[in-house]
Amino acid sequence: MRIVEKVSEMQQLSRELRANNRLLGFVPTMGALHEGHFSLVRRAQAECASIAASIFVNPLQFGPTEDFAKYPRTFDSDCEQLAAEGVAVLFAPTPAEMYPDGATTKVIVEGIADRLDGASRPGHFTGVATVVAKLFHIVQPDRAYFGQKDAAQLAVLRQMVRDLNFDLTIVGCPIMRDSDGLALSSRNKYLNTTERVQALALRQTLLHIERSIAGGERQSDALLQQGTRILREADGVKLDYLAAVDAQSLLPVDRAELGTLIAVAAWVGQTRLIDNLLVE
Ligand code: PAJ
Repeated sequence: MRIVEKVSEMQQLSRELRANNRLLGFVPTMGALHEGHFSLVRRAQAECASIAASIFVNPLQFGPTEDFAKYPRTFDSDCEQLAAEGVAVLFAPTPAEMYPDGATTKVIVEGIADRLDGASRPGHFTGVATVVAKLFHIVQPDRAYFGQKDAAQLAVLRQMVRDLNFDLTIVGCPIMRDSDGLALSSRNKYLNTTERVQALALRQTLLHIERSIAGGERQSDALLQQGTRILREADGVKLDYLAAVDAQSLLPVDRAELGTLIAVAAWVGQTRLIDNLLVE
């Protein structure tokens, strides 16, 4: 696996990898890799001739009081595992390479970027859209793979790709979970043993709502009330949001139908976790 730090070198390499119409797949990450990330790599492997991944903890998408400084960094073992998965090239730039002095352009995806996590974390999705737009220009993939775990991010990036005519396909991939149901996340590393158990409340809430829907309850108000009650009663959990929205626009819906996203964000101790379910 080639490890590339420079933008110009990555662009050159991308041209070589895409020669003769060979499909290039791309998996952007912030590192501290887990099976969720590897599921994206494997999906890309199944569909593309070669794979590029990136590791870049993007300062632009963290708020001033958020966890940028302490975000887990496990670069060496990440590299080993990506190489073992058959990734051809890892783009791992420094912050100065991505944001040289004097860079001022940002990508603002109006409206949708202020919903769900965008409402709780002002500016977050502008940071995400800006870095992902840059990564797309640098890696120039045919297909880019993102997890449904970050459903709002996926919706914002799909909108950006539509609006800015990026010549690539975004592929959304299912949520990978631990055996007890907790959605895998690099931030799970922050949880102590007690919090790790308390964190299961998110999944349990979504499962309860899923059962209610299967039992015939479609009214968002009723579903969200039930879910909110579970989360308010859960030890150690502080609810940020629980919402029923259209998965594409992230706008609230009155009824849970096909294409509705039930999304939850909550604090467990100092750790903010998210999870969701798509109504089938
Ligand atoms: P990161 O949190 O490292 O996630 C990288 C990719 O892995 C995202 O597409 C995310 O949705 C996916 N992912 C994370 N946990 C997953 C799980 N349990 N199951 C399936 N997929 C999962 O998301 C980011 O980084 C950044 O915002 C980034 C897009 C790289 C821009 O900086």
